[in-house]
Amino acid sequence: MTSSSITPIVEMNNIHKSFFHVHVLKGVSFNLYPGEVHALMGENGAGKSTLIKILTGIYRKDEGSVIYKGKEVEFKNPKEAERAGISIIHQELNNIPYLSIAENFFLGKEETIKRTPLIKSKQMIEKTEEALKNLGIHLDPKRLMMDCSVGEQQMVEIARAVTQKSEVIIMDEPTAALTDREIESLFSVIEDLKRRGVAIVYISHRMEEIFRICDRITVLRDGQSIDTKNIQETNFEEIVKLMVGRELGERFPKRTTTPGEIRLKVQNLDVGDHIKGIQFDVRKGEILGVAGLMGAGRTEIMEGLFGAKKGAKGVLYLDGKQIPIKNPETSIKHGIAFVTEDRKGEGLVLDLSVRENLTLPNFKKVSSIGFMKKKKEEKFTDEMIEKLRIKTSGREQVVKSLSGGNQQKVVVGKWLGIEPKVLILDEPTRGVDVGAKKEIYDIMNELTEQGVSIIMISSELPEILGMSDRIMVIHEGKITAILNRKEATQENIMVAATGG
Ligand SMILES: Nc1ncnc2c1ncn2[C@@H]1O[C@H](COP(=O)(O)OP(=O)(O)OP(=O)(O)O)[C@@H](O)[C@H]1O
Ligand SMILES: [Mg+2]
Repeated sequence: MTSSSITPIVEMNNIHKSFFHVHVLKGVSFNLYPGEVHALMGENGAGKSTLIKILTGIYRKDEGSVIYKGKEVEFKNPKEAERAGISIIHQELNNIPYLSIAENFFLGKEETIKRTPLIKSKQMIEKTEEALKNLGIHLDPKRLMMDCSVGEQQMVEIARAVTQKSEVIIMDEPTAALTDREIESLFSVIEDLKRRGVAIVYISHRMEEIFRICDRITVLRDGQSIDTKNIQETNFEEIVKLMVGRELGERFPKRTTTPGEIRLKVQNLDVGDHIKGIQFDVRKGEILGVAGLMGAGRTEIMEGLFGAKKGAKGVLYLDGKQIPIKNPETSIKHGIAFVTEDRKGEGLVLDLSVRENLTLPNFKKVSSIGFMKKKKEEKFTDEMIEKLRIKTSGREQVVKSLSGGNQQKVVVGKWLGIEPKVLILDEPTRGVDVGAKKEIYDIMNELTEQGVSIIMISSELPEILGMSDRIMVIHEGKITAILNRKEATQENIMVAATGG
C-alpha cells in the first residue's frame, strides 16, 4: 500500500509508558492506514501488547499522542474504544468461563437487543450461530465457554470482534491456538475486512503468516519502534535481525542425539469415550512429535497417561517397570513432567512470582524431604531466567505482569526443575518469539542428550518437522501414522491428520 495520499486512521506518536519505574515504551511511533494489515513484531516483552492496550484504553500512556480519524483521543476503557470503532482480540483469552458462548458473544452489548428475555436469548443464540458460521465454525452457542478448547474460545473472540463493524481491529496472537483450517478461515475474513477498508493490526510470532497476509511490518525492540517495512521490500532474515538485534542462524538446531532403549511404553490406553487402545513408545533421548488437528485428542491422550484425566486406564512401563496411571502427583514422582498448553488455567499461578512459579512443582518434591533452601530456589530461578531469557524485573515480579511469551517460558522452566525422565510438552513455543523459540529448542536438545525423552505436541508443522526424531499423528482419537524423520513431510502428516 502506498500511503502518502491517504491519511492514517490511527497515528501514535512518541508513546511512553512505565510500570512502577520500569520504562516499557520509550517513544514508540506507529501509523495505521485504512485497508491495510499491519504487523507489529518484536521479541517477547518488546512492548507490543502494551502499545495496543494504550490505543484501546486499557492502559494510560505517560507521554505522546494518539490520533484517531484526525482527532486526538484518549479512551478511558475498551468499551469506549469499541464504540468509536476500535476493537481488540486479546492475546490472553478474556471470556467468562461459566457463561455460554452466546452470552460471552453479547457481553457488554446486550443492549443491542431490546426484547423480552426469552426472545432476546433466542436472538442472541441465532446471531452468535450466524457469526460463527461466517467463520466456518460450527459450535453450539449454548455451550459453556469452559467446555470449549482454547482454540474454540479464540474463534469466538475473533467472531465477536469481526461482527462489530469496527474500523480498526487489533489481533494479538490470534492464531496461536488455531488449527490450519481455522487459520485459513481467519485469513479469508481478514481479506474481506481489508476490502471493506478496515485497518488491521496483526501481532504474531509466526513469520509465515506475517509474510502471507500483511502489507507492512513495524518492528519494536526493547520498547522502541525500530523500523517500518513494506512487505515486498523485506524478508524473513531482515525482520528477525531487526527484532533481535543480531543474526540468529539456523532456525532449528541440529539433532545430535541417537535415541536409546525404550523409556516409556504405553499400552491399551483408554481416555474418555472416544480414545481407545492407544499404543506407542518413546525412547531414551528421543523427541517424539505429536501432530494432529485441534480436537484430535492429542492433549487428552497425554493427560490420560499423566493421570490428569479421570477414568483413564491403560498399562504404562517406565524403563521396563510398570507404573500406575493414578494422578499427576504420582506421575511426577516417577519422573514424568507435563507442560500444559493452557498456561493461564493450569500452567501458572498468576498472582505468584516468577520464583514461586518456577519452583512450585520441584518445591513440593524436595521440600517434603526438607532441604529445599531459599538459596537453592533462587539459584534455580536465576538460572532459568538466564537460560530461557525470561524478561522480568527480577525473580519476585508477579507472573501476571510478564508479557505473554515470557509467561510461557516460566511454564517451561518450572518443569525443567524436576529433572524429568519423560517431559511432555504441549505446544511449548506458543506465543514465543523466534529467538526464544530457538532457546527452547536448544534446551530440548540438551535434555535429550542427557537421556530425557520428550513428547512434543505441536500445531506448528515446521517445528514438528524440524525437531522430532519420530512423528506420531493423531486423528479422531486414533494414531493414524508414526513416521520417522526421513518419511515425514508436511503433506503426509496432513494426510494422516485428516484421516488418510
Ligand atoms: N501491568 C504490568 N505491570 C508491570 N509490567 C508490565 C505490565 N504489563 C506489561 N509489563 C511489562 O512490559 C513489558 C512489555 O510487555 P508486553 O506485554 O507489551 O510485551 P509483548 O511485546 O506483547 O510480548 P509478547 O510477545 O511476549 O506478548 C514486559 O517486560 C512486561 O513484563
Ligand atoms: Mg503480547
